[in-house]
Amino acid sequence: MIRMCFLLSLLVSAFAMADEPVMTDFGKTKDGKAVELYTLKSDSGLVAKVMTRGATLVQIHVPDKDGKSEDVILGWDDVAGYESEDNQYFGCTTGRVCNRIANGKFSLDGKDYSLAINNEPNHLHGGVERSLDKVVWKARPYTTDSGHGVRFKYTSPDGEEGYPGTVTAQVSFFVAKDANRINITYKATTDAATPINLTNHAYFNLGGAGSETVMDHVLQLNADRYTPTDDTLIPTGEITAVAGTPLDFTKPKRIGARIEKLTDTAALGYDHNFVLNPRPDDQNYNFAAFLRHKESGRTLRIWTQEPGIQFYSGNFLEGQTGKGGKTYAHRSAICLETQHYPDSVNHKSFPTTILKPGDEYKTSTLLHFGIAKDQADN
Ligand code: BGC
Repeated sequence: MIRMCFLLSLLVSAFAMADEPVMTDFGKTKDGKAVELYTLKSDSGLVAKVMTRGATLVQIHVPDKDGKSEDVILGWDDVAGYESEDNQYFGCTTGRVCNRIANGKFSLDGKDYSLAINNEPNHLHGGVERSLDKVVWKARPYTTDSGHGVRFKYTSPDGEEGYPGTVTAQVSFFVAKDANRINITYKATTDAATPINLTNHAYFNLGGAGSETVMDHVLQLNADRYTPTDDTLIPTGEITAVAGTPLDFTKPKRIGARIEKLTDTAALGYDHNFVLNPRPDDQNYNFAAFLRHKESGRTLRIWTQEPGIQFYSGNFLEGQTGKGGKTYAHRSAICLETQHYPDSVNHKSFPTTILKPGDEYKTSTLLHFGIAKDQADN
């Protein structure tokens, strides 16, 4: 009997092992740092791969309506791809402050700070050499009763990329066993007041990364309002209704239906921060976005604790060659970046992005993949 129990427990642990996050070597950065890749799986067909460089989502495979799996995010097969000029923040954790800071300047507690200008005339996505997408994070895989995850940690020293405070940041990617869902949780602490605004910059094409366009996808955003910008994509400070504009996605709409009206604007298409409608008091997460690709039947629902979402329609994609030699054409993927509003550090009326010593920054976003129940057109 004792022997039977022992054999049984061996068998159970063998199965448990098979489920646990698997680590493989993803190669080295150009300065010789080893990069690890972790594979996380659900029981219903989702396979996600995340790497330690930039705490980056490298692959997300999800089944279509016929059960055929496809990788639905843009990226590369090696670290060199991610280090190349072609990389427009594919799949990475973006920060310390995602999106733009006007003229790379802000003042905090009576001190002026100047950051790198990497998107004339502004600072974009946390800087140049040591922004959070470019550094190698430490990874720790973990397993709970409900799924598997990897927790990435990085300590950014005081003054890195011009930002004040030593910031310890954590990002975990957790794949639920029973659903095709990825829960991304960000945490940070600091030893001096500093702005922080983290997001994930995955480029989605639900028809499969490398499909020609994303203009045929249908999008719904839970946002009646957005933050208009100047010609350099810095918010003016106003919060304006989307009603009657091509930005009205309160009902599901084909992305391509009205985009041409925005082609000749500074955004070159969709590249706007939407103000999410308030989260109901009894809910931990707010519904942010619904994306559907008719042909494959794949859907993506995004839930978040953030007040905003940047909808960027891949206007700067320029035909770079990515995973498996596939071409990433203009507007062939969409980013849905949950975030605090851009340039919040310079707008007192926006929800604050300032993290203070003793406080913890903590926010989660869920990516929930599914299959459309009906194929109604919009
Ligand atoms: C920004 C775009 C930018 C893109 C890639 C998005 O988050 O809103 O303006 O071109 O990232 O850097």
